[in-house]
Amino acid sequence: MNFYKTDDRNCLPITLPQVRTGQATDADNHGGVLCFRHCAKSCGRVVVRDNLEKKFMENKRLFSRFAWAVTGWNLVVILWGAYVRATGSGAGCGSHWPLCNGEVIPQNPQVHTIIEFTHRMMSGLALILVLALILWGRRLYVAGHPVRIGLWLSGTFIVVEALLGAGLVLFELTAQNASVARAAAMAVHLANTFILLASLTLTAAWASGLPVLRLRGQKHLPWLLVGLAGVILIGMSGAVTALGDTLFPAESLRAGLEADRSPSAHFLIRLRVYHPLIAGLVAGYTFLLIRRLINLFGEQTRRLLLLLGGIFALQLVAGAVNVFLLAPIPMQILHLFLADITWIIYILSTASVLTQNSSKTIPSEVL
Ligand code: HEM
Repeated sequence: MNFYKTDDRNCLPITLPQVRTGQATDADNHGGVLCFRHCAKSCGRVVVRDNLEKKFMENKRLFSRFAWAVTGWNLVVILWGAYVRATGSGAGCGSHWPLCNGEVIPQNPQVHTIIEFTHRMMSGLALILVLALILWGRRLYVAGHPVRIGLWLSGTFIVVEALLGAGLVLFELTAQNASVARAAAMAVHLANTFILLASLTLTAAWASGLPVLRLRGQKHLPWLLVGLAGVILIGMSGAVTALGDTLFPAESLRAGLEADRSPSAHFLIRLRVYHPLIAGLVAGYTFLLIRRLINLFGEQTRRLLLLLGGIFALQLVAGAVNVFLLAPIPMQILHLFLADITWIIYILSTASVLTQNSSKTIPSEVL
């Protein structure tokens, strides 16, 4: 594709890859006319330089929208994954992976098979979308740009996510399996899900103009990291609680609370009590942290921190409602949705704090 027209036959046409890789930066401005060192004598007339710039900016805008859409789609896949667990459909395709009950597309499927197979299709699409995001992002941003780092992280953690999901099926950590191995796998799966969401969120935020994070000399960083680790811990304990609720549903609130205290109860039942405790502690810590940070930064950071406080409080209420209603499936999905949103807002608030006083500039982009 030629972006410059020239009267000089010796001039090489400038192509988009040349512009992107910097080979075409020899362009020089002589009285409003761009020349290239490749040109023997005369300078070519600039015909579409403005178009090129506009096209590039438009591409970046589309890319950032796509990055947010991919993050959103991953969120949907995560929620459907919880639906698979809550309906006991994890073994809907048997212990086969990537095939479903030994078939590429299941024939005459049962409801559990449809639920599990749909999750596989959705996560397959998520993988393809992340791959597309990586390929597109590599064309738009130079190495070293934060978007490229986000893409690298997203690619890594979506592959780990797929492998963890496949591991659950292949090792039969599904359906009525109530082993320690399954509980541990669910907790690790959730931690990876959070890290994947963080990677995608940061990629989209950087593509939308979030500056480079400044890590060195940030006195708030350790406190924010403790908060983030706390949310991961809440999530991991929540995944174990959710497993306990799925495998050993309580008949009433009273029976559930009594079972939690019984020393002879299954470990998944006895562990249930820790999740609200951890959530309460981390929430208290986060509220204190927000109070400490809220007046130190600009309006955008302030808004994010306020939102974080609000969503945390809402999630505490949703958790309590969940317990009172004995965790019906729609409530479980809503609780997980709020957990993911809380995590995303925590990540964005942290990033916003860490960009303050950032002296580092973003490495130059393609143009
Ligand atoms: C900000 C605070 C909280 C976060 C981030 C959080 C996060 C989570 C997560 C990620 C799950 C696993 C969902 C799944 O895998 O399907 C979960 C489950 C659960 N959480 Fe929380 N939680 C919070 C607060 C609470 C509180 C305060 C309570 C109770 C008072 C609670 C009660 C439950 C229950 C009963 C489950 C199991 C049923 C389900 O899956 O919804 N949570 N939580």
